[in-house]
Formats: sequence, structure tokens, C-alpha cells
Amino acid sequence: MFRSERLQSNRLAKGHVAWAVALLLALTTSVGRAAEPLTYFGFEKAAHSAAAREGLEDIFAGRLFHSAIPVPVAPGPGNKLGYDINTADGQFYALGRLPSPPNRKAGSAAGFGVGESVFVRGKEQMFNMNCFGCHAGVVNGQVVAGLANNRVNQSDPKSNLLRTRGDNFGPYIVWGFIAQLENPATEGLVLAKAKTKLLNDLESLQLPPVDPMPWWLMKYKKKDYWYADADPRDAASFSINFTSAHDAMNARHAEHVKSVDKALAFARETESPPFPKALNAQRVQQGANLFHGSTPPKDRKGFTACATCHGKYEKVRDADLSRPGSWKVNYDFSHVLKDVDTDDSYSQTLRKLKPIADHVNKLKAYYAAKGTPELTPQFSVPTKGGYVAPPLVGVWASAPYFHNGSVPTLEAVLNSQIRPEIWSRDISAPHAYDLERVGMKHKVVSRAEFRKSAENADGKPVLSKEAIDHGALYDTKAFGHGNMGHTFGDSLTADERGAIIEFLKSLSGPDM
Ligand code: HEC
Ligand code: HEC
Repeated sequence: MFRSERLQSNRLAKGHVAWAVALLLALTTSVGRAAEPLTYFGFEKAAHSAAAREGLEDIFAGRLFHSAIPVPVAPGPGNKLGYDINTADGQFYALGRLPSPPNRKAGSAAGFGVGESVFVRGKEQMFNMNCFGCHAGVVNGQVVAGLANNRVNQSDPKSNLLRTRGDNFGPYIVWGFIAQLENPATEGLVLAKAKTKLLNDLESLQLPPVDPMPWWLMKYKKKDYWYADADPRDAASFSINFTSAHDAMNARHAEHVKSVDKALAFARETESPPFPKALNAQRVQQGANLFHGSTPPKDRKGFTACATCHGKYEKVRDADLSRPGSWKVNYDFSHVLKDVDTDDSYSQTLRKLKPIADHVNKLKAYYAAKGTPELTPQFSVPTKGGYVAPPLVGVWASAPYFHNGSVPTLEAVLNSQIRPEIWSRDISAPHAYDLERVGMKHKVVSRAEFRKSAENADGKPVLSKEAIDHGALYDTKAFGHGNMGHTFGDSLTADERGAIIEFLKSLSGPDM
């Protein structure tokens, strides 16, 4: 059997966590030849502010994560790990690690992906992961800056922990790191030598995955994350997410916060890719009316106007609704948690982490004493259930849906009856995106097929073909992977549902 989702204490204690993830990302993937040439969206924009441009450079340069390993031991390109990258399977496998945009300057080296950085520190060439390892994704053949990488493979070869493709556990590395601070009030960012009780407690928890919201939503929000915590401009708080164990942490903190500030400026200026096909203007308007509740659906039972939770979208005067981007966003719910009966595990887990949040918040005294209160990170956990209802700009591109990525298409978000219990990413056509049902092309898998695949993978290394294939299956009965709740679309007719989806497609593009 595979091990359950638990933190790997040995790695945490050694403080190699950040690069362990980097190593994983690199190990489990390798840049392949794409079926069609990939295009890039949002990595270089004349309209970017100076801070955003510098932020992009800093991300690519590898300045955000201090932990890095020397290049010679870093797994390089061409690591096929049981997959032939000239085959369709291998391409899918390869595409978890996306190639860099052709105009990338900082931190690039032949064969390393958009989410990796290679740079010189001291005399040595170093390698680490950058934000795009988790925050650049491919949709419809386009690599998009700020879109969550829904193909990330965070399986751990060391402990042979197999994880579902796309599952992200990044935040727990941060919680583990701050749990290990020795005495934040007086010593700042110094780590305890022996493992802390807080870290032990964290390691005893079973951990649910979380799928990041796209960065382009930040410009509409006062709070980030599915649980409404950090202010999207609060670089001091975000900096802790990218701090990793090294001796110079206190000395480097101010400079690090500056870099993070620029990276966040870039993140806030990312935009959603426009829906790539012409829209039916009349259907868009019909959908907008239903969404806002200005026209009731045929069957009103169980329906609540979507705008109640997801914000209002006002038509730009004289806009052509057959084109995306014709709406002005009027959304102010990023600080509000709404419990719509989706999987509760992530929220429950976060609530258990309150003692860790209290611990890191003692840093306030440290930075006050130093006379630099602006460098203080602040953490919070939810006090009740539910998640943020995000603005729905660019939602066509950000499948799979919900905070845990459990639902592959918008059609199924709006019809809980058709949500597949087990679904598989399409391995044969890795760039394929379903523009009709809107979301990931996928296959519905039976429980018997799932068992067979699990048996095939059992006892094999997590990087074997059998285990990688099994990792492509999303089982909504597994812990934290539930696809329940949010049944607001269930009573709609197929026609009404289609109209709302047409409207959602139109909420996209650089004009929004
Ligand atoms: C190992 C994967 C990983 C890496 C690398 C990573 N993140 Fe994230 N990030 C996540 C996950 C997962 C979340 C979602 C957490 C949540 O909502 O609870 C997230 C959320 C965010 C958010 C909040 C988005 C929103 O509006 O809710 C921002 C901003 C962000 N990350 C910025 C960055 C930056 C900047 C970097 C690089 C310095 C980075 N991240 C690197 C995994 C990662
Ligand atoms: C009572 C509040 C509420 C109503 C009404 C509501 N939603 Fe939601 N919606 C949410 C919440 C909360 C989430 C996040 C749930 C989660 O991730 O677990 C969500 C998630 C979504 C998502 C997935 C977003 C993503 O990025 O994964 C879509 C799409 C969506 N809603 C569309 C709609 C549409 C269309 C309607 C109207 C038919 C609607 N919602 C009605 C609260 C609501």
C-alpha cells in the first residue's frame, strides 16, 4: 500500500523542505517535445508596471526561494523515469513540467522548465524551484502565468508516497516551517534544533490537497486564499511562504520581503486568457440575467442567484457580447467564508493549525523591538466552515474546480448529478481542453477499473509508469477529495445551464 498523506518529518527537520518539493517537481517530470508548439500568455506585457516587471525577473532569477541545490546533483532534462517522452503518454508526463517562454532571460538554462531557476550563488551553479512550478499552468495549448499548474506531481520518491496528479500540498510545508521556529518573539526566524511539539502535532494530521486560485483574481480581492487570510499586498506575510531554513534568515528577511513585494505586484497584474472562440451574444445575455437573478429560472427550487456569492458583473456600455471581456467586476466577498457543503476537510484542518498561527504571530514582538514592524508576518485560520466564493473571471480556464480540484468541468459544477466519482486526466492528449463542457478533458473511471489500476501500481516506485498512471485518477471518495455540495445549478434546465456557461466564458481576457 501507499503511505497516507502525511508530512515527511525527516525532511522537515533537516529544513530541506523547499528544495525537496523542487526536486520532486523536477524528478517527476522532464521537458518533452510538445504535440503542437505551446504558446505563452502573460509572461511579458508592455503594460506591466516597473515593479511587476522586476517581480517577474525576481521570480525567474530564483530569488524568492533561498533554498537551492547545486546543479550537478539536480535532476536534469532527459530523465525519462519509465516514460518515453516521444510517446503520447510521455508527453503528458512531460507536461507537468512546462517549458520556459522563449524570451525568458533570468534564471534559465537549457532543459529546465518555467517553474525552475538556475543561478550562481558564491561560486556554484545552483538550482531551485520558483513560483511558476505551482502557478503556471497550461490550458488549450497555452502556458498561462498565474494559472495553477493542475498537472503538478508532488509524489515523494524517498518515502514512496504517491499523490494524485494536480494535488497541491505546498502550504503545509509553510505550516511545518513556522511550527519549527524556536522562539519567534525574541529570536525571530531561528529554527529549533529538536523537533517541536507543534511540528509533531502537524505531522499527526491527515492532510487534504488544495488547488490554488489563479493569480489574476488578486486584483479584485482584499484577502487571498480559499480561507480569506493574507492581504494580496502584504509582502511581509507572504514572504514566510517562501522562506526556507538557512542561517541567514533574519539577516535576509528585509531584502526578501522587497523581492516578494515585487513578485506580488506581478501576480496582481496577471490576466486571464480570453475564451478562444466566438460567443453567442444572446446566450451570454440570457446567462447573465440568470446569474444575477434578474430573470428567474423555470424551476426556482434550490436556486440562489449566483451573484449573491460571486459578485456582480456590469456590462460595459455598448459592449459586443460575442467577445469576452465586456464586463466590469463588482465583487467584494474575498473576506467572506460561505459554507455550501463542499468538502470540509481543508477548512477543518486549517482550524486545527491555530496554535501554529499563534506561534508565528509572536514575531510581532521581535520586529517591534527591531523597529521594523512593517516586516511582521501575520497568519490566521478560519474560525468557521466554508470557503471563499471567488470572482469568476477567467473561470473557464481554471479547471478542475472547487478548492480541492474535485470537479473537472463547469458543466458538472452546475449539475452535481453528473459529477464523476472517479475521473482520469486525458493522457493521450495532454493539451486538450474541453471548450464545450468547459474544463478538463477526462474519462470517467469505474471503481473496478480504479482497483485494478491501484493493484498494478501497488508496491511499484512512485515514479514507475504504473504509479504515474494511477496518480492520474482522481478519486472523490478519498480524504479531502470530495465533490459534494454547491448544488445551485441542479434545478436549472440544460438550456439555462448552457446560457450561464456561455456567460462565464465571456468573463475573461485582458479587458477585465
Ligand atoms: C509548491 C507549490 C507552490 C509554490 C512553489 C508557490 N505556491 Fe503560491 N500557492 C500554492 C497553493 C497550494 C496555494 C493555495 C492556498 C490556499 O488558497 O489555501 C497558493 C496560493 C498563493 C496565492 C494566493 C492566491 C489567491 O488569490 O488566493 C498567492 C498570491 C501565491 N500563492 C503566490 C506565490 C508566489 C509569489 C510564489 C513564488 C514565490 C508561490 N506562490 C509559490 C502553492 C504554491
Ligand atoms: C451561497 C453562495 C453561492 C451561490 C449562490 C453560488 N455559489 Fe458558486 N461557489 C460558492 C463557493 C463558496 C464556492 C467555493 C466552494 C469550494 O471551493 O469548496 C463556489 C465555487 C464555484 C465555482 C468554482 C470556482 C473555482 O474556481 O473552482 C463556480 C464555477 C461557481 N461557484 C459558479 C456558480 C454559479 C454559476 C452559481 C449560480 C448558479 C453559483 N456558483 C452559486 C458559493 C456560491
